[in-house]
Amino acid sequence: MKVTLSVIKADIGGWVGHSDSYPKVLEKAEEAMFHARKNNVIIDYHVTKCGDDAQLIMTHKHGEGSEIIHKLAWNTFLECTEVAKRYKLHGAGQDLLSDAFSGNIKGMGPGVAEMEIDEREAESVLIFMADKTSSGAWNMPLYKIFADPFNTIGLVIAGNLHNGFTFEVHDVKDHKKVTFNCPEDIYDLLVLIGAPSRYCIKSVYHRDTGEIAATSSTQKLSLMAGRYVGKDDPVCIVRAQGNFPAVGEVLEPFAHPFFVEGWMRGSHMGPLMPVSVADATPSRFDGPPRVICLGFQIANGELVGPKDMLEDISFENARGEANLMADIMRQHGPFEPHRLPLDEMEYTTLPQVMDKLKDRFEVLED
Ligand code: F6R
Ligand code: MG
Ligand code: MG
Repeated sequence: MKVTLSVIKADIGGWVGHSDSYPKVLEKAEEAMFHARKNNVIIDYHVTKCGDDAQLIMTHKHGEGSEIIHKLAWNTFLECTEVAKRYKLHGAGQDLLSDAFSGNIKGMGPGVAEMEIDEREAESVLIFMADKTSSGAWNMPLYKIFADPFNTIGLVIAGNLHNGFTFEVHDVKDHKKVTFNCPEDIYDLLVLIGAPSRYCIKSVYHRDTGEIAATSSTQKLSLMAGRYVGKDDPVCIVRAQGNFPAVGEVLEPFAHPFFVEGWMRGSHMGPLMPVSVADATPSRFDGPPRVICLGFQIANGELVGPKDMLEDISFENARGEANLMADIMRQHGPFEPHRLPLDEMEYTTLPQVMDKLKDRFEVLED
């Protein structure tokens, strides 16, 4: 049976500040999703949040990029924004960049990850959601999951993974894409994805069967808006087991935090801390950035779950390590490498500061 899994998210108002989502906003989303399921527009849904981002997880029969589903998500976010405005939540409707829906929610502010799948005998999926970071944050974990034998032993000892995976990488600034067959292309792949602010892994495919293995949201809010609105706070769907890495291999990259861009005012590097949904409440210096993961089995489109995958105590050390890394970065204050380099600041204060200083610059004599 073919089924599409759509994860569509938006920051439509924070409680308090940018740290969390207000329960009444999520109740509104739940209500809209409940009606859509009752009217057979979607098969099933789960509403959750990661920090100040509302997350709509939906299964349906309309395929990827469906106007019906995107409009449903858009209208749901609009209704949620009304609630956010009623309670004067911070930044109510901040990610909804347009006044009118234009057929596809991509390019309008919200983040989108979707995959149409042929549901397997047992369909295990893991949905990752992050707050206070940008698209591109999934590059390192996706590389480790699907191309690094030190992370995924299945690449070495499981016959159905041994031929590797194909990576589709997007150049989000030049609007181009390129594919790499791994393992033979890993060095070329790493040249690009090691620069995650420009090159993002969009999707991963099984090389033998062509099946979709993973897909992520690559929307860049600042590029869409032409200014800093908020961080992208991306999402990513990964299929697990069988022809794909095991659940534990998919989660393993998060056992050691790595630095991502985002955090305070979207202008810093900070560790991505793996947490439970309940702990996805970035507060210290508006962070540090968080990642959550919900696991589901999909049964004829029904979402059997969620299971809070990063709640597990085996990620305690990673959380401690992330706090230490946060301490070290914070000691740098406004200095790089904590603060982002200048070219990444172009959507914040840099243009105004340079404009103000332009007459004070003098040419060096020698
Ligand atoms: C980062 C983020 C926050 C805000 C900061 C200022 O993604 O959302 O760090 O940038 O709290 O917020 P405003 O400008 O809304 O007062
Ligand atoms: Mg926010
Ligand atoms: Mg957010």
